[in-house]
Amino acid sequence: MSSRREFLQTIAGAVVAGGATRALPAWGEVEAGPSISGKEGMIVRSVRFLDLEAPADYLTSFITPVPHFFVRNHMHEPSALDPSQWKLSIGGEVDKPYSLTLADLAKLEARNVTNTLECAGNGRAFHNPVVPGVQWGKGAVGTARFSGPQLKMLLERAQLKSSAKHVMFRGLDDVPGKVPPFIRSIPIEKALEADTLVATKMNGAALTRHHGFPARAMVPGWVGAASCKWLTEIKLLDKPFDGNFMSPGYRMPNQPVKPGEAVKPEDTHSITALGVKSVIASPADGAKTKSKSITVRGAAWAGEADITKVEISTDGGDTWNPAALDAEHARYAWRLWSYQWKPAKGGDYLILSRATDSHSRTQPATAEWNPSGYLYNAYDQVKIHVEA
Ligand code: MTE
Repeated sequence: MSSRREFLQTIAGAVVAGGATRALPAWGEVEAGPSISGKEGMIVRSVRFLDLEAPADYLTSFITPVPHFFVRNHMHEPSALDPSQWKLSIGGEVDKPYSLTLADLAKLEARNVTNTLECAGNGRAFHNPVVPGVQWGKGAVGTARFSGPQLKMLLERAQLKSSAKHVMFRGLDDVPGKVPPFIRSIPIEKALEADTLVATKMNGAALTRHHGFPARAMVPGWVGAASCKWLTEIKLLDKPFDGNFMSPGYRMPNQPVKPGEAVKPEDTHSITALGVKSVIASPADGAKTKSKSITVRGAAWAGEADITKVEISTDGGDTWNPAALDAEHARYAWRLWSYQWKPAKGGDYLILSRATDSHSRTQPATAEWNPSGYLYNAYDQVKIHVEA
C-alpha cells in the first residue's frame, strides 16, 4: 500500500456484502479526497498513481465528456514529455523498422471510433469475498470518440514478417523503483482490425495527459488495459509478451472457481474482450423520493457484441420488463436506456438491471468470482425508498 491516504481510500471502498443484495462502497468517504484539476467531481480512488472513477450519475451521456472520463494509472504519468521530441518506433518481427514523430502521425489519415472503455477491474468492490486491488464501484468506464491512424496502416508500412503474431505496446510511464513497466501485447488479428487505432484525439481534441498524450493504442471492445497510453514503442513479437501486466496480470481462470479459491497460473488465460453489462445511473442508490413516476436510466455495453435488450426489475428479480434503448448507437459503444416506472405504493424497493447481447449472453445474477476481481458483471442494483 503506497500511502496512508490511499490505504484509507481503499478501505473506504472495500465494502461488500453477501446474499442476493450487496452493499455499495462507502463512496462518501472516498469523495473527501483531493479534487483533481480538470476532473472535478470524480471519485479519487488513488492519488499516488492517479485512479479516478465517475460517480454513477455521470454515466448518462452517450459521449462521456473528458472531465468525467475515468483514469486508471498503474504508475506515475510521464513527468517530462516533450511532444517535439516524442517518437513512436515500430520494430521487432518486421522487414522495415521505422519511427514516426508526432508531426508524421498527424499527416496520416485518421479514423474515428466511438468506444466504451472499461477497466477490467470495474466493479471489483462488489466481489465477495473481497479481492485486492483498486476498489472500483460502477464508474471505471466511459465512452469517447477516439481518432487517429489505423494501427494496421502503421504496421503494414513496416512490412510484417510471417513470424509477427503479437503486437507489443510500451508506454512512457514514470516507473517507480522496482515496479515493472507497463508493457502488454495483443494478438496480430486484433491489431489488424480496421477499428484498432493509434489514437491522438479524444472527443475531437488532443488527448490530455491523463488519457495518454500524445498517442495511445485504442483496442475497441477490449478491456482498458489493452489500450496502452503514452505509447512510444510498438514491437512485433512471435509470441505474447510475458511481462507482469500479461502474467500474472489481467488473467481469468479457465474454469469457474469457488469464491476465495486460489488459481494456478497455468489454469488462466489473458483477458481480451469485455463481457455484457449494464449499470443503473439513476435513481441513486439510497435515494428517497415522493414521486409516483420514476425514470430508471443507465448504460449497457458488451465489448465486441451489441446490446440487444436491457430489462428492469422493480421487485428484486421476480419479474422483468424491457427498458427502452436510446437511438444513439455505435459498434463498440454503450447503449443508453431508460425505464418509466410508476410504483403502485410507497415502500422500499430493490431495482435491478440486466442486459443481453448479440452473442446471446445475459448478465448473470452473480458475477464469476476470480482472485483479481476482473470483469464484474452481475445485475446492477439500487435500493430506493418511495414515500407513501
Ligand atoms: N497505459 C499505460 N502506459 N499505463 C497504464 O497504467 N492503464 C491501462 C490502460 N493503459 C495504463 C495504460 C488501464 S488498466 C486502463 S483501464 C486504461 O488505460 C484506462 O484508460 P484511461 O485512464 O484513459 O481511462
